[in-house]
Amino acid sequence: MDGNGRWALGRKLPRSQGHLEGLKAAKRVVKAAAGAGIRYLTLYAFSTENWKRTAEETGFIMGLVKQHLRAEFAFYRENGIRIRHAGNPAGLPADILAELEGALSETRDFKGLQVILALNYGGRDEIIRAFTRLAEKEGALADISEEALSSCLDNPDVPDPDLIIRSAGEFRISNFLLWESAYAEYYISPVLWPDWDEGELNRALEAYRNRERRFGGVKG
Ligand code: FPP
Repeated sequence: MDGNGRWALGRKLPRSQGHLEGLKAAKRVVKAAAGAGIRYLTLYAFSTENWKRTAEETGFIMGLVKQHLRAEFAFYRENGIRIRHAGNPAGLPADILAELEGALSETRDFKGLQVILALNYGGRDEIIRAFTRLAEKEGALADISEEALSSCLDNPDVPDPDLIIRSAGEFRISNFLLWESAYAEYYISPVLWPDWDEGELNRALEAYRNRERRFGGVKG
């Protein structure tokens, strides 16, 4: 969800205002994704590297997530949306973790769109934690296979992403779903995240429909 800062800067507003508008955009896109019949949507809300920002900004984003989870439960219930988490819970502030765990358990049985909040998430960190779990499970690392490692990821039942959308014109992976994105299609849009809405999502989905996916094979 890139471009919140630039959106604010362009309007001579504090960066926090950009994140606030970014959250509104996230809600629009979640609603549109549910309407489009998408089953899983991962929102990259905070990376393991985002702690490099000022305490003021990281505190604001964390506060926004907490407030959102508390205030929007009715929205998730009405739309049958299940909240999940990807990332390292150990590095999250205790109050955010408690709010997140509440949302995870309260929405566990909802059957609609699954929204995976990537919070304190890093692709490399997830792979390291997956290997650690595998070692704990298997004792020695005897069975190292793609399947074995996949089964130890943060959300092993969630399928690999078909489409990864990057806003604000950045051509970078930024440590996002490194393992899971092996054959994902990328869609990069110049539109800053706070300006995202159903129309932008539909443009991304239309572009995806025109891709030819071969997964390393040949056409036909
Ligand atoms: C990247 O833009 C955005 C973030 C690091 C924070 C995004 C988080 C939210 C919008 C809150 C989402 C919360 C929920 C519950 C969905 P940037 O600050 O790097 O923008 P810039 O590159 O223009 O400076």
